Amino acid sequence: MKQVEVAVIGTGWCGGMRAVTLSMSALVDKLHICEIKPERLAEVKALTNPATATLDYKDIIDNPAISVVYISTTPEGTHYPIARDCLKAGKNVLLEKPIALELWEADELIAIARDKGVKFTIGYSQRFNPKIAYAKKSVAEGKLGKVVNVMVSRHLSRTLGSKIANRVKLSPAAMESTHDLDFVFWLLAPAKPVKVYSQGAYGYMKERNGSYDCMWSTVTMDDGTLVVVGGGWNLPPSYPNYCGTWIEITGTEGALILDDTSRDNWLNTVADGTQYPMSTMPGEQVDHMFAGQMGPETLHFLESVLLDRPPMVAPEHARIVMESYLAADISADTGDPVTLPLSNFSLAALQDMKAR
Ligand SMILES: NC(=O)c1ccc[n+]([C@@H]2O[C@H](COP(=O)([O-])OP(=O)(O)OC[C@H]3O[C@@H](n4cnc5c(N)ncnc54)[C@H](O)[C@@H]3O)[C@@H](O)[C@H]2O)c1
Repeated sequence: MKQVEVAVIGTGWCGGMRAVTLSMSALVDKLHICEIKPERLAEVKALTNPATATLDYKDIIDNPAISVVYISTTPEGTHYPIARDCLKAGKNVLLEKPIALELWEADELIAIARDKGVKFTIGYSQRFNPKIAYAKKSVAEGKLGKVVNVMVSRHLSRTLGSKIANRVKLSPAAMESTHDLDFVFWLLAPAKPVKVYSQGAYGYMKERNGSYDCMWSTVTMDDGTLVVVGGGWNLPPSYPNYCGTWIEITGTEGALILDDTSRDNWLNTVADGTQYPMSTMPGEQVDHMFAGQMGPETLHFLESVLLDRPPMVAPEHARIVMESYLAADISADTGDPVTLPLSNFSLAALQDMKAR
């Protein structure tokens, strides 16, 4: 049986889940883990029994036996340098979103992967959500006719939102709606986004980190399809770790409404009150099985490498998603619609906004 040596760099929440999934897979010859926090490294080492555990990702780069690397580090500014070094060393890479912080960084990563002939993908885990896979199938089979409108409304609890928004100055569009822009563009391919109009509203987060509580973006596709994506992260703490999503897709021949609000799993304990287990975007390991997206996504990438099949998410697609949420950021800041691809004028507005 074909097997590979794999590594996970950054074994926090997501990387920890990826490492656990890999530790249980027959496709993995040896697992290597890397984490800069010694106590977290020790925790994940105890969970996964890896061949090696290191504090320095250069040890992963320098090990020629490792052919597949999952990069799950934060803050998000670490994505580009670590992915660049892994790709340059000829490793196949799954990088968590965002692909990079700057468009030129994304371009460079894509170019290195092409040059080295390795597989490079971005962790847009929602494509492994069965409801979203079903939407893709329905649209591809023409069940809905020509799709006219897609609406996605996603809200996270403020505990999750604070964690995300505190570590890096990225907007709800960049950090949350990014998943929805990814899968909606995937559903509507080969249509491409050509115009973005977005607005953000301040509330709970503003005093804490200057971020919007929510952003709503309208995206026009080049075939006229209208996409509306809303992402927020201010649900009260009584929804710990909660993520709820409502999706409406309408077409000339039908409609598909997807309730992904996870209210069908409702745990209430004296100690912790209401909880909605298995609702977070990556999902979670539940004893012998993974409930959610990140487990199957992790194994899918391994199989793509072993069977030489294209991974689910092309990095060029992730680059279009990145350009779209940057357009949303510019639009929310200026109050004007922004056309895609981004013009020099829009790129300058983006730099002005970042400088502020
Ligand atoms: N696909 C999804 O559904 C999903 C969900 C949540 C987060 N994410 C993305 O996944 C990434 C990780 O998020 P998280 O919530 O797991 O973050 P986290 O902060 O829990 O974990 C990140 C870990 O990376 C470690 N780290 C940082 N620099 C490192 C380095 N140089 N070498 C080794 N380890 C290093 C940190 O110590 C930390 O433990 C983020 O980029 C986030 O955007 C994806």
